[in-house]
Amino acid sequence: MFPFPDRPRLWGTAVSHYQVEGGDECDWSEWERAGRARGGPCGDAVDSWQRYEEDADLARAAGANAFRFSLSWSRVEPREGKFDDRALDRYRKLVEHLVRVGLEPCVTLFHYTHPLWFHERTPWIGTASIQRFRRFAARAADVLGDLVRFWVPLNEPLVFLLAGWFDGQIPPGVADPQALPRVFDHLLAAHAAAAAAIRERSPGAVIGIAHNMMAFAPERTGSFLDALLAGFAHRCYNRSVVEAFATGRWDFLLPPTTRIRGRRDDLPASLDVFGVNFYSRLHLRCPGTARLIGDFHYRDASGSGLTDNGWEMVPDAFPALLEEAAASGLPLVVTENGLADADDRLRARFLESHVDAVRRAAVPVHGYFHWSLLDNFEWLEGFGPKFGLYAVDRTTMRRTPRASVETFRRLGAAFLETRPSS
Ligand code: FCB
Repeated sequence: MFPFPDRPRLWGTAVSHYQVEGGDECDWSEWERAGRARGGPCGDAVDSWQRYEEDADLARAAGANAFRFSLSWSRVEPREGKFDDRALDRYRKLVEHLVRVGLEPCVTLFHYTHPLWFHERTPWIGTASIQRFRRFAARAADVLGDLVRFWVPLNEPLVFLLAGWFDGQIPPGVADPQALPRVFDHLLAAHAAAAAAIRERSPGAVIGIAHNMMAFAPERTGSFLDALLAGFAHRCYNRSVVEAFATGRWDFLLPPTTRIRGRRDDLPASLDVFGVNFYSRLHLRCPGTARLIGDFHYRDASGSGLTDNGWEMVPDAFPALLEEAAASGLPLVVTENGLADADDRLRARFLESHVDAVRRAAVPVHGYFHWSLLDNFEWLEGFGPKFGLYAVDRTTMRRTPRASVETFRRLGAAFLETRPSS
C-alpha cells in the first residue's frame, strides 16, 4: 500500500544507472563509439558502480529517507536470455545497503538505455519487446523483491518515444512517425507486463511511472495561435500519459499528421502511484520554422535567471501540473525535480520554491526526489550541466557537498514531519 504505513512520506534523491555508474556496455555506449552521441563519451561516469555505498551514505547524510536509482538492463542481461548474476548481486548489495542505512529503495527498470542485442533482436516496434521487458522485470523482482517495495518500470516513456523514434536523437535513432503508435503501445504494454511480473513475486509491491511534465506558455501574450499551440502541447505532452493510465486509452496528435491512438484495458490497474518529473517551461510561437509547426524555447520570463543549461525556473507552474497528474486518481510523488547550477547560486532558492509549490498544490503529494544526488552524465549535454547536491571531481571521483545540501536537509526534515496538505 502507498503511502507506506511506516513511511507516510518519501524524501529522496534520484540517479539513473548510465548517468552515474560508468563502464556500461549498452546501446548508448555503442553510439558513443560510433560518434553518434552528442554528449561525448560517458566513460567511467562518476564511478558509482564501485562507490555505491558511499553514494547511499551521502544521500542519507543529506537527510533523505528514500533513494531512486535504475538498473542497467544491459549489465543484468548482457546477452538475450543470459542473466549476469554478478550484476544482479551488485544491485542486491546496493539495495541491502540502502535498507540498512534507512533509505527506501525506489527501483526504475528502464531509464533510456538498452542491452546491445535489443534493437536488433526485439525492438520496441515488435511485440516480442514486451515479453523481453517482462522477463527482465521478473528477474529483477526475483532478486530484489523481498527488499524493494517501490518499482518504476518506465522513466519518461513519451520522452523516449520522441527522442528515440521521432527525432532519432538517441538510440535507437529512428525518425519514423509511422512507428510511433506501435512503439508507444508496446512501451505501455511492457509497463503493464512488468508490473504484473513484479506483483506476482511481491504482492505488496507499489508500481509507479515517472512522467516528464513541462509547462507550456504562449510566447506572445495576446497571440491566438501561440496560445492554441501551447494548449495543444500541454494536451499532447502532459495529459496524454495521465489519460492513458487513468482510462487505458490514449489519443493524441503529433504534428503534422501522426495520430497516436491506442487502448490497453489492463493499464489503469497496473499503476499504484503517479510520478511526475518536472523541470521547466517552454514558450511556444506559431507558426515557426521547426517541423512541429511552431518554435519552442526557454526564456527568462520572470527575470529570476536561467539555470546553467538555460532552463527557466517556474515553481509557480508546478501546482497545476501536479493537479493535472492527480487526474490519474492515484497518489502522487515527484520522481524528479532539480537544476543545473555548478556554482550553487540558485539551488537553495530553487529547492525552497519548488517544495513550497508542492505544498501549495491542491492535491496531496507523498514524496519528493531531487535530481540529482551527484553531478552526472547529462545525456546529450555530457558532463557540462551540474545537477548534483554533491559536486564530483571526475579526476579523483571525490564527492563534495554543495552548500545547498543544508537546505535540502532542512526542507526534508519539515517535509517528513508534516502530512500532505489535502
Ligand atoms: C530527465 C531525465 C534524467 C535527467 C534529467 C535532467 O528528463 O529523466 O535522466 O537527464 O532530465
